[in-house]
Amino acid sequence: MGGGEIRRPFHSLQKTRDTLKGVMEKDPLKIQVIVGSTRQNRFSEKPARYVFDELKKEEGVEAELIDLRDWSLPFFDEPVSPSMNGGNYANELGKKWAAKVGEADGYIIVTPEYNHGYPAVLKNALDWVFVEWRDKLVGFVSYGSALGARSVEQLRQVAIELSMHPIRSAIHLSSEIYKAVMNEKVPVDPELFKPLRAGWSGDRVATFFNELMGLARALKTLRKKSIA
Ligand SMILES: Cc1cc2nc3c(=O)[nH]c(=O)nc-3n(C[C@H](O)[C@H](O)[C@H](O)COP(=O)(O)O)c2cc1C
Repeated sequence: MGGGEIRRPFHSLQKTRDTLKGVMEKDPLKIQVIVGSTRQNRFSEKPARYVFDELKKEEGVEAELIDLRDWSLPFFDEPVSPSMNGGNYANELGKKWAAKVGEADGYIIVTPEYNHGYPAVLKNALDWVFVEWRDKLVGFVSYGSALGARSVEQLRQVAIELSMHPIRSAIHLSSEIYKAVMNEKVPVDPELFKPLRAGWSGDRVATFFNELMGLARALKTLRKKSIA
């Protein structure tokens, strides 16, 4: 290896994805992109829409954009914990949310940083469901003064408790991208996100997608085997 070369372990997953091309066409991976902020004037919908549009270009993927504004779940108030309720929710919307989450093979969560953590609305959405998250891959897109890294680290801990598998790669938006995009309307010109695809560490979107999709396929196969 040359002196300045960076080792990227998940680049090998591109080969896995190539090998699985036929399977992926017949049985696409369902990946949900979850917009992690619901506040007025939010930024999150801009990178979420960008990632969603890039994801739609990937072969063998069925992408869905999930806006928590469309899911006005109350603060979690079920009589039984979702880990124990066997899918029986008292709240009709909770039941629908569980079914929606259950449709996916993997998730991309787009999160800001609120007081060094992630938004309460996102934690609430995570807490509402349990088994539907299980054995699914999750990757994070974040932004903030420390690139949203603190939110992502907290989310990784929560994801593990939900039996999800958080991936190593993340897309942390730089403050330059944040500033360039902040006053734009959705869908934002993808050129403004281009530094993500051509930075000093290479194409971060491709690395992120390769890791997410390569491993999501493996987990999907395992989930099917454990059901059979
Ligand atoms: C309640 C609140 C707390 C915030 N705390 C932080 C913080 O701890 N770290 C940070 O980098 N930015 C913080 N910010 C600034 C956010 O990064 C910025 O407002 C961002 O656009 C929020 O994401 P959203 O627009 O998608 O909701 C905070 C913003 C709000 C509204």
